[in-house]
Amino acid sequence: MALSKDGLRKLYRKRAAAYDFTANLYYLIGFREAAYRKKAVAALALEPGDTVVEIGCGTGLNFEYLRRKIGETGRLVGVDLTDAMLQQAARRVNRKGWRNVELIKADAAEYDFPEPVAGVISSFALTLVPEYEAVIERGSRALGKKGRMVVLDFKLPEKWPFRLVKFFELITKPFGVSLDLADRKPWRTMKSCFPNVSITELYGGLVYIAVGRHNR
Ligand SMILES: C[S@@+](CC[C@H](N)C(=O)[O-])C[C@H]1O[C@@H](n2cnc3c(N)ncnc32)[C@H](O)[C@@H]1O
Repeated sequence: MALSKDGLRKLYRKRAAAYDFTANLYYLIGFREAAYRKKAVAALALEPGDTVVEIGCGTGLNFEYLRRKIGETGRLVGVDLTDAMLQQAARRVNRKGWRNVELIKADAAEYDFPEPVAGVISSFALTLVPEYEAVIERGSRALGKKGRMVVLDFKLPEKWPFRLVKFFELITKPFGVSLDLADRKPWRTMKSCFPNVSITELYGGLVYIAVGRHNR
């Protein structure tokens, strides 16, 4: 069964301190998470001075890449359910001396986006949110004229043998990702919320980047 919000919070409280280290361990199996993050951030096409919201920001592993795009004059808002993950994010922000990053403890399902924003991004988080469809709808409405929404996440790879899928379930389960979530399909919601959506599959189809844009 998919974890409840309380279950996810408890899990991520346990994972928070070592999260960045464990995320790097996936490199051992060729999972180039930093490259996927950079690709997702590039797809937002942000400019200096832009406002960007990250849903399920965790410890802030995307912040450096986002900040490089929006510069000192932009605004970055990180939203997450788990206090301990946000504490790690706050340590990163303080260590780097970033002044334009706001951290908000909230359930994405209840978060009110500031408007207008130039970008909304979520990486490896949206599938964990049962109300992801409503989150994508609200995110898409919050975008300004040139705004884009980018989702980087896991999905069930179509052509993989079941045993390989089960292996990946084993190694992603410590983060609440399991086959119980396979019927959540954020990329489909992106297609219904945006007239322009491009989808790129990575890591043999286990990961995708969906980029949504309006025709404004
Ligand atoms: C796998 S981590 C990903 C963190 C970060 N985005 C990254 O790429 O490293 C999933 C994050 O989603 C957060 N999360 C789960 N459910 C959420 C919800 N309903 N609202 C906001 N954040 C949520 C968790 O607290 C956790 O920090």
